[in-house]
Amino acid sequence: MSPTILVTGGAGFIGSHTCVALAAAGYAPLILDNLGNSDVRVLDRLARIIGTAPRFVEGDVRDRALLDRLFREEAISGVIHFAGLKAVGDSVADPITYYQNNVHGSFVLTEAMQAAGVRTLIFSSSATVYGDPDSSPIPESAALRPANPYGRSKLMVEDALRDLRRADPAWRIALLRYFNPVGAHESGLIGEHPQGKPNNLMPFVSQVAVGLRDKLSVHGGDYPTADGTGVRDYVHVMDLAEGHVAALRHAEKQPGLVTLNLGTGQGASVLDVVKAFERASGKTIAYEVGPRRPGDVPAYWGDPALAESLLGWRARRGLDQMCEDSWRWQQGNPTGYA
Ligand code: NAD
Ligand code: UFG
Repeated sequence: MSPTILVTGGAGFIGSHTCVALAAAGYAPLILDNLGNSDVRVLDRLARIIGTAPRFVEGDVRDRALLDRLFREEAISGVIHFAGLKAVGDSVADPITYYQNNVHGSFVLTEAMQAAGVRTLIFSSSATVYGDPDSSPIPESAALRPANPYGRSKLMVEDALRDLRRADPAWRIALLRYFNPVGAHESGLIGEHPQGKPNNLMPFVSQVAVGLRDKLSVHGGDYPTADGTGVRDYVHVMDLAEGHVAALRHAEKQPGLVTLNLGTGQGASVLDVVKAFERASGKTIAYEVGPRRPGDVPAYWGDPALAESLLGWRARRGLDQMCEDSWRWQQGNPTGYA
């Protein structure tokens, strides 16, 4: 029988793609999601990719009674914890909501896991815990100084999980620090569709390409980078999804806590992304260079060597494929799952 993995936030962008990778690797994902930032119709799409829809429970990760019931009734062998809020600006405006959801939610989950004797946990952290790094590529040992409540909520959970593992060595924990997840499943059936105006670059560019938005505003053209625009480590969401499976397998093999960057190790500028998207879509992406976005870091990318040596995982898909897959999803689903 396939081992059941509880996937909190599994209806969301990274979670839905990870369900595909889990199923391909012989696991049975069980999604728990409150649909606060996702659409239940993703389940039909997942059924078309996987062959059967993953089991789904609508509910909140902060609901301890619900978690206790799930752990009692289902033979859950491990948990991948995606559920959380992720908009940096909202976290500045409403920090307590972010700590409530991201930190308290993680605590309720780990308490329920402990009570049920399930001690395998893969946690969605973020490269945002590094803040403005001293240099790139960033190793996992770099200083941690997140610059906003969202990033601090991730660091708080990381710290708590490190303490938990020290207190109880039976835990098997992976803290995965994602760089900039983009792209979509190659089928074009699932992808990212932010509600309202996208904050992030790739969804904005693809909405310009499909005609939903007039032009991209490039946030700053005077950074000390090759073309003056911000540089990030974009990583294909399916590579990220496979990284979760690799981390789960590693945790199953040995107890302990590992902290791993999941990125490509390469930086791309805003204009690199625009050009790659033009190649992928055959469309011209209108853009205008505007002022810097407050709080943005000029340039950073990760050092993914540790993930490769520990998990045997490395990102295989390049920027062109990220744009081609985003475009296939965006073109086929201009309004998301609606
Ligand atoms: P997403 O918003 O698409 O997915 C998160 C899912 O969690 C959504 O389906 C939402 O409905 C659900 N959710 C939120 N709070 C919940 C709660 N209390 N109970 C149950 N479900 C809840 O976001 P994503 O991009 O897929 O991100 C997944 C995780 O990865 C998040 O923890 C995020 O912070 C982290 N992360 C994302 C990025 C990124 O750029 N996308 C980068 C680094 C880290
Ligand atoms: N950018 C634009 N115009 C836009 C949107 C973005 O020029 O409309 C630029 C930004 O200035 C930056 C780059 O594109 O240089 C990437 O910006 P994103 O908003 O896509 O991503 P960030 O690097 O700012 O942050 C993302 C997630 C965070 C996460 C971080 C991890 O939003 O939650 O990656 O590295 F923590």
